[in-house]
Amino acid sequence: MSAAATLTFEEVKTRIRATEKDGGPTTYRDLAPGYEAVFEQVEWAAPQSIVTKWMEHYSPESLQAQAASGRKHRILDAGCGTGLVGEYMSTVVQMDNVELYGGDITPEMIEQAKMKKNAGYMDFKIINLKKELPYEEEYFDSIVSSGVFYVAHCGPDCLPNIFRVLKKGGILVTTSRKAFYEETKEGWDKYIRESNCTLLEAVDIPYHTLAKGISLVIKKN
Ligand SMILES: C[S@@+](CC[C@H](N)C(=O)[O-])C[C@H]1O[C@@H](n2cnc3c(N)ncnc32)[C@H](O)[C@@H]1O
Repeated sequence: MSAAATLTFEEVKTRIRATEKDGGPTTYRDLAPGYEAVFEQVEWAAPQSIVTKWMEHYSPESLQAQAASGRKHRILDAGCGTGLVGEYMSTVVQMDNVELYGGDITPEMIEQAKMKKNAGYMDFKIINLKKELPYEEEYFDSIVSSGVFYVAHCGPDCLPNIFRVLKKGGILVTTSRKAFYEETKEGWDKYIRESNCTLLEAVDIPYHTLAKGISLVIKKN
């Protein structure tokens, strides 16, 4: 029986609402061991949605060709949490052809991700998307992020830190809560423009049963 099976739906909602008040490391430290069981109760679909969207831009053939040329496609999972993006990616992508890095502000969430031997991450770091990230400029071919851009978590002011470590021509594929994106759209437009990036797409995606989500695909020019 999963940990959340012992929680009522009201208790599940209370835990998710707690993240909407404070999405920082203290909240996620306490939530980490039960995080997946709680989110399962609201049919958490953002990790699958974001990997599916990412795969529209990177075909198995192109990843294989890049790997064969001697340098694998490097991806950052920004705000990787317990590693659900990597876990799903490993079921649909030939992970020998990519290098997946995970970064998150909450050490206890990363510890959960490290326990997953099937999630395909080759590196984990504690990162704060509100500050300069501990990677070289233009280090990643692409960046994915699931469930990180919403109230009390990260806003569009984090975008320049992300774009700094993305290669020119690479894309960021991220979720946002739909309402949060609409409220902060001016900021997204401003930071995308100032970073010489282009918004390719903003579309509705399966997210979870308590909120609507969108995915944004942003290219660095
Ligand atoms: C809803 S969870 C999403 C986790 C995972 N990506 C998923 O889809 O299941 C939000 C994550 O964002 C992380 N987070 C919040 N603020 C952050 C920040 N400033 N920098 C990096 N990670 C942050 C939290 O620690 C937490 O793991």
